[in-house]
Amino acid sequence: MTAPPALHLSGRATIDGAPIFGPISIDAPPGEWTCLLGPSGVGKSTLLRLLAGLGDEVAFDGKVAAGDGAPLGGRVALMAQADLLMPWLDVTANVTLGARLRGMAPQRGRAREVLGRVGLADHAAKRPHALSGGQRQRAALARTLIEDRPVVLLDEPFSALDARSRALMQDLAAEVLAGRTVLHVTHDAAEAARLGHNVLLMTAGGVSCVTPPAAPTPRLYDAPETLGFQGRLLRLLMEAR
Ligand SMILES: Nc1ncnc2c1ncn2[C@@H]1O[C@H](COP(=O)(O)OP(=O)(O)O)[C@@H](O)[C@H]1O
Ligand SMILES: [Mg+2]
Repeated sequence: MTAPPALHLSGRATIDGAPIFGPISIDAPPGEWTCLLGPSGVGKSTLLRLLAGLGDEVAFDGKVAAGDGAPLGGRVALMAQADLLMPWLDVTANVTLGARLRGMAPQRGRAREVLGRVGLADHAAKRPHALSGGQRQRAALARTLIEDRPVVLLDEPFSALDARSRALMQDLAAEVLAGRTVLHVTHDAAEAARLGHNVLLMTAGGVSCVTPPAAPTPRLYDAPETLGFQGRLLRLLMEAR
């Protein structure tokens, strides 16, 4: 993997003339995990899609750049908010889809390992319709984790999981993606309090930086400083315009 770059986005976005967000400015430091926390509809997914080079429907007046000045194309993995699993492929084929789309041999051994780690070892041969919502989301997470990209964009990656699986998958993602530049969109203050080296609060009024506890991530979900920070984030969300 090449050295992970910083991520920058600044500007404003509209769709069919309707304002979606901005003007805002967002920076994610290199090799760190940055949470982008905000309520539904504030434009988080649109912003992530723009960073991934998607969003053809969006009129974007601004700048998207990597800190090293090199193009972002080919260095980014996006786990979209919808799982986007191909219904006609089994879980293993879905997880190795990226390699096959690039004309490379699927890494079956690695897929087996990652599927084991997301708790889907016994479901590898199933098609998506035979999985629960949480299992589908874990398959999509496995597909993202298997991509060896220096920049990883996660759009509410744990939203369909029960509390226990969520904590386990947060731990796993923090371990596997350590050292990469991660921008993680979430509406869950508890999640941002566990995972963010940096936390950006995105509301209709703009984006602000909220300094998380100094404890290493993933932070203990029941540590007083984690819970205190979670409460502070929730208060800021409640008080935001
Ligand atoms: N393709 C689209 N066409 C029209 N409006 C859209 C489209 N995609 C998103 N929007 C609107 O943009 C706003 C922000 O959406 P989104 O980026 O998905 O927000 P978030 O991820 O923060 O919930 C919403 O009001 C949504 O209805
Ligand atoms: Mg969204």
